[in-house]
Amino acid sequence: MSGAAPPRLAVLASGTGTLLDAIASELAVSLVMVDRECVAESVAERHGIPCERVQRTDFGTGFDRVGYTRAVLDRLSASRIDVVAMAGWGTILSPEAFDRVRFINTHPSLLPSFKGWHAVRDALDYGVKVTGCTVHVATAELDEGPILAQEAVAVLGDDTEAVLHERIKEVERRLYVDVLRTLMTGA
Ligand code: GRF
Repeated sequence: MSGAAPPRLAVLASGTGTLLDAIASELAVSLVMVDRECVAESVAERHGIPCERVQRTDFGTGFDRVGYTRAVLDRLSASRIDVVAMAGWGTILSPEAFDRVRFINTHPSLLPSFKGWHAVRDALDYGVKVTGCTVHVATAELDEGPILAQEAVAVLGDDTEAVLHERIKEVERRLYVDVLRTLMTGA
């Protein structure tokens, strides 16, 4: 019996890799990519997943985003990746990326509220009583793209940014895996 090869998943991370850990515990991950030295590399190693670092050396205004994006795309293509899950990835890619591969993202707010890098802090500062997380198709516009799933998280009176973010991430670790499982397996 023959069939189409199963789609291949890559995870892009830049931080502590707790979402990566949740994904890799449930789904086959063919490649982890990081843009800097980070804990996510050891998470990949623990799961036995090949990990490539496309080192970002420039965080200034002269950053060659197009060149960097091409380097990322070349590595994804060399590993025959079909779906890319961004999980705390810290570099905005140039628009070309989103034409070439299917990118999925999770963001720690109820989009379209609180886009950007400081979503949890911004929600706290605004004084909302409910925030949450959003899993969405990633497009060239930061934190835009069709929403695949959302879940609310209550903001508590004594929340700090770190405490609230951790409660949101507890939800993301379940919700993101569920969405990715459906995308990868149809189950
Ligand atoms: C998540 O909250 C994700 O939405 C955001 O970065 C966080 C990643 O967490 N973009 P971790 O590094 O996997 O713990």
